Amino acid sequence: MPLIRLDKFISERGEYSRSQIKELAAKGKIRVNGAAVKKSDTKIDPENDTVEVLGAVIRAERFRYILMNKPDGYVCSTEEHDGPTVMELIPPEMRTKNMFPAGRLDKDSLGALLLTDDGELAHRMLSPRKHIPKIYIVKLDNPFQNKYVDQFKNGITLSDGYQCLPAKVCNVESCEKLAFIELSEGKYHQVKRMFAAVENHVQLLMRVSVGGLILPEKLRSGECMELLHKDVENLFSPPDFDAFCRDFSGVFSAILINKQL
Ligand code: URA
Repeated sequence: MPLIRLDKFISERGEYSRSQIKELAAKGKIRVNGAAVKKSDTKIDPENDTVEVLGAVIRAERFRYILMNKPDGYVCSTEEHDGPTVMELIPPEMRTKNMFPAGRLDKDSLGALLLTDDGELAHRMLSPRKHIPKIYIVKLDNPFQNKYVDQFKNGITLSDGYQCLPAKVCNVESCEKLAFIELSEGKYHQVKRMFAAVENHVQLLMRVSVGGLILPEKLRSGECMELLHKDVENLFSPPDFDAFCRDFSGVFSAILINKQL
């Protein structure tokens, strides 16, 4: 890995500005591999050197990626307007100054939500041109009908006239009111509005995968886990929808069936 300036390394990790770093270095408050470094333009090896500011180690990774299992009742926003936000659920040791939810789930929706301070990744992920598929499991008011498969494949027309891109749906064999749906776009309330267009109603919605990131069974509602950069790259390698439904219908239908409405 190429060497980079100490002040660039520290400031990119969020807590200190370059002028603060210069001042702290001059006072001997910054250490590299245990030795005080007084000049903030000193070059360091970000992978192998240990940098401490005021005794706290600065982590080598530039960005943080958190996968949350979002519970009901939290808004996907950094600012509180309409009740508590998902930001409150991030444990302090995982949180960074510029972290935000990369994507939206409705206040009453559940499941996989990525939070990061990597603006470029979030932009790549949310870009409509990327079409990163997302899979949801839904609990419906009325039983799933086989005709939905073709209706969703041909593109559902929403009540406002918007013509959706082709989507995939699949029933869950063990429960006639559960279904998986895969979408490659993210309009407002889209899943709910698509099922409304076929005269059904979504009671409960849980996102179970975002691209190749699958909500782990062990991540309980309201919990967060840190992802590695290589896990995040999985976002861009989504699973095969039919294989996903086959492999995960047991796990996710059990979670949804146990949720109280
Ligand atoms: N579609 C919806 O209707 N709601 C969500 O939260 C996500 C997708």
